[in-house]
Amino acid sequence: MKVGISFLTIKEDLETTLSKIDESSADYIHVDMMDGIFVPNANYTVSDIKKMFKNINKKLDVHMMMCSPNKYVKEFAKMSNVEYLTLHYESHRRPIDVINMIRHTPLKVGIAINPETKVSHIVPLLNHIDQVLVMSVKPGKGGQKFMDEILYKIETLKDIREENGYHYIISVDGGINAETAKLVKDAGADMVVAGSYVCLSDNYEEKINTLR
Ligand code: DX5
Ligand code: ZN
Repeated sequence: MKVGISFLTIKEDLETTLSKIDESSADYIHVDMMDGIFVPNANYTVSDIKKMFKNINKKLDVHMMMCSPNKYVKEFAKMSNVEYLTLHYESHRRPIDVINMIRHTPLKVGIAINPETKVSHIVPLLNHIDQVLVMSVKPGKGGQKFMDEILYKIETLKDIREENGYHYIISVDGGINAETAKLVKDAGADMVVAGSYVCLSDNYEEKINTLR
């Protein structure tokens, strides 16, 4: 199981938190970007992210909780430490246009779906993407309870991938801890994103190991 760490909910200062994640065995740093429109809170701009990760070695998995995600693609494409750039299905009138934009860059492309969005909506996109990010909480803040009712989506996405020979990874984001990671692993997920479970703990590595 791959592990990405979100730093939306932290107990130490940002610099300390990021260097602790960087030194851990996590596979990615999951960067939650919020615009105050798609979700109520706002946080970073792309140039904030650029500065923040100047001295960080880990690859970034960027989760854009933002309307008009097309506006940010060019800037992210210039960052060599970004591996995945993920937009929300619900954030754009024609997600396929943004997916195609990202596919013309060196970045891998992800599509995120809110808990109420059905897999059937994204079926036509699945041939074109590298990651599906299944939200297991309402996007916008850390520390929420995992919603079991999304588990069937993981199984469906796995079946569709097998039947069609697609290559996307299935990631799950929100309310991940040792127990919920086990549930999503059994359902067939490839990656979990954990925030408060790791960043509010005193031992990142110990917590990360319980997720794999
Ligand atoms: C939720 C974010 C998540 C969140 C995860 O809107 O996309 O990445 O920070 O935090 P926890 O693990 O605390 O639910
Ligand atoms: Zn996220």
